[in-house]
Amino acid sequence: MTAPISEQLDDAASQREEGARKMDWARQHMPIMAALREEFEADQPFAGEVIGMAMHVEAKTAVLAEVLAAGGAEVAITGCNPLSTHDDVSAALDAIDGITSYAKRGVDDDAYYDAMDAVVAHEPTITVDDGGDLVFLIHEEYPELIETIIGGCEETTTGVHRLRAMADDGALDYPMFAVNDTPMKRLFDNVHGTGESSLASIAMTTNLSWAGKTVVVAGYGHCGKGVAKKASGQNADVVVTEVEPRRALEAHMEGYDVLPMAEAAAEGDVFITTTGNRDVVVGEHFDAMQDGVLLANAGHFDVEIDLDALEAKAVDTYEARDGVTAYEMDDGRRLNVLAEGRLVNLATPVALGHPVEVMDQSFGIQAVCARELVENGDEYDAGVHDVPDDLDREVAEIKLAAEGVAFDSLSDAQRDYMDSWQHGT
Ligand code: NAI
Repeated sequence: MTAPISEQLDDAASQREEGARKMDWARQHMPIMAALREEFEADQPFAGEVIGMAMHVEAKTAVLAEVLAAGGAEVAITGCNPLSTHDDVSAALDAIDGITSYAKRGVDDDAYYDAMDAVVAHEPTITVDDGGDLVFLIHEEYPELIETIIGGCEETTTGVHRLRAMADDGALDYPMFAVNDTPMKRLFDNVHGTGESSLASIAMTTNLSWAGKTVVVAGYGHCGKGVAKKASGQNADVVVTEVEPRRALEAHMEGYDVLPMAEAAAEGDVFITTTGNRDVVVGEHFDAMQDGVLLANAGHFDVEIDLDALEAKAVDTYEARDGVTAYEMDDGRRLNVLAEGRLVNLATPVALGHPVEVMDQSFGIQAVCARELVENGDEYDAGVHDVPDDLDREVAEIKLAAEGVAFDSLSDAQRDYMDSWQHGT
């Protein structure tokens, strides 16, 4: 069984110090987490609960874990992607009372799942997931734990899709909040967070400019909209590919070129996939691409770019830069894949994930959903649940207060008017 991270690192003490510094910076920019921490410290809502987490273990996630621990929880955490863990942050987390971290960067599949087994061995009563691996593992391998699990929270689109598919098959046996789908998460994290951090990570990893480039964005959903908008804001020409007619039309009306990938392949300098689907960029597309293109994925799993097909076509592969693998074709073209096709904003060596302010919102929702489970868990059946709107509003109001933004409220007359159907011309 995997040991806690502190027992896996040779230089755990210096790593802990650096991780704590990163957490301190994040904490300074997370007013929602600060407000919830104060409340949780006073009320101890999670006393006696064990919270199992599988998330990207970096500074912002660490702040969420420490806030849950401050509320009385025993927390056991591991990564949800083999390349997104910051070992220093993982070590700093592991040193906090009530928290055990098993997350380590660069682990192979066996070590990845061993660490998840180690989290489950704590017998969580609440699960917090990003991508659904923990919920899936518990249902497959540890169904005996389900009886004592109050419920869980899911962070991302792909995880919510997975959970809904489980629920449709009658295979989801405890309640899960679709944290991803609530406005305070999706309209900010997926759009602005993914847009800003994917572009920043690609630019930092390659040291190349956006200006004058043609950027092909696959998928014009929440993440795709953010990536397209921010790339356009950096003076790139944006081409969108889609399979959903209304999303394709939306992209067209926004002023972007919309093309099938088979045509876009020859146009692009940079390709960024944001579909949550598989096989979006495949063999025939590689054949059409120009020398030097960058291929990056911002969707949850590493299946959007067909790396097996690319590997099969390559006469040579080599590390062109840290985080960039060049695949050389027999005609001399080099196609450059970032972060092994994994989440580019989290998995390149310089990646930092979403901006802190954005994750403050997403994790604020995670925290209030966990609180809702301990307070009212009995009210939720097994299945996928929307985040109650009053919880979403609560987090928005904390954020606005912290930003010093005042806003209007409805008068009684306005409320009556909005609720009535008798008013006409
Ligand atoms: P979404 O459902 O809003 O958008 C996905 C879009 O991709 C849809 O419009 C869909 O029609 C389109 N699509 C599906 N298959 C396609 C194909 N073959 N070609 C072109 N378009 C296709 O989902 P959202 O919220 O944008 O999430 C997308 C992915 O990003 C998910 O895997 C999600 O988990 C992940 N995600 C990643 C984040 C990050 O930090 N990188 C943050 C949040 C979500």
